[in-house]
Amino acid sequence: MSDGKLYLTGVKPTGELHFGNYIGAIKQACDLSQDNKMIVFIADLHALNAVRDAGVVRENTYRAAAVIMSLGFNMDNVLLFRQSDIDAVYKLTELLMNVTPKGLMDRAHSYKAMVDKNTAAGVDADAGVNMGLYTYPILMAADILLYDTDIVPVGADQKQHVEFARDIAGHFNAIYGNMFKLPDVRILPNAGVLPGLDGRKMSKSYDNEIALMAPQSELKKKIMRIITDSKTPEESKDPEESTIFQIYRHFATDDEVVRFAEMFRAGGMGYGTAKTILFEKLDSVLAKKRERYEYLMTHRDEIDAALAHGAEIARKIADKKIAKIMKAMLG
Ligand code: TRP
Repeated sequence: MSDGKLYLTGVKPTGELHFGNYIGAIKQACDLSQDNKMIVFIADLHALNAVRDAGVVRENTYRAAAVIMSLGFNMDNVLLFRQSDIDAVYKLTELLMNVTPKGLMDRAHSYKAMVDKNTAAGVDADAGVNMGLYTYPILMAADILLYDTDIVPVGADQKQHVEFARDIAGHFNAIYGNMFKLPDVRILPNAGVLPGLDGRKMSKSYDNEIALMAPQSELKKKIMRIITDSKTPEESKDPEESTIFQIYRHFATDDEVVRFAEMFRAGGMGYGTAKTILFEKLDSVLAKKRERYEYLMTHRDEIDAALAHGAEIARKIADKKIAKIMKAMLG
């Protein structure tokens, strides 16, 4: 049932979305879209601090949009568009700069991680840090505040950014009156961290990911490459320690998950068999979605049309809001 609230989330187009992105963030948004009004946008401006090739930004934007349009989001409830199509978001970012304490940006996890890395390497603390990276949270606050968002469903790694948006809104409201809603973050409880092929957190930077829309043959190859321990088929295995099981549990029914766990514990199932079971499950869950994704990627005019339509509606909402904000700040 809808709670009457507006949900909003952004998907950064930095590469092929993988199972970790899906379980950590996108699945939650997809589920919420079934009964709630939701804004989903492709955060292409957020990619610019790292991606320097316009062709790559464009390609990844298509991919991200095609994933969103294939996964089973309830598109009757979803407003989908591309961030860079909305002029008001650039304006609001500039305006919010003036009420955002510099110290807040200094505390951002992603910026601090860069500083720590640089310090450990003995180079200048800010080496390789551009202002796009440094002010990333302000652009994200603009995304969220522009549409009077109530709730922001994201992965755990984005929690601090949403809290910053709330902080920034609070600073703004204290000066200019109640102009912005204070957004709440929503992290899926027990989504946990999805392990990748090598057992570490699934991440592009570890090169251990499985693309969500990987063609069937690639999906199979990747699953067969999952690293396991050296237990023999006969030995009892702990499902909690198996990457195979950790991925399976997110895609199967509760009964199937219980049964699969029993098979691990009972012994008699080798890892090869377990991988085949995982592959068949993923393949059956994803086959239709992958088909739609591949269709869209070869009919890009349909993606263009969907994004253009979404942008037209979003612009109307955003333009109204930014006019009010500019009036409040500039008279
Ligand atoms: N920063 C988010 C990420 O890296 C993407 C994003 C941009 C976002 N703007 C947003 C998410 C606003 C939620 C709300 O995944």
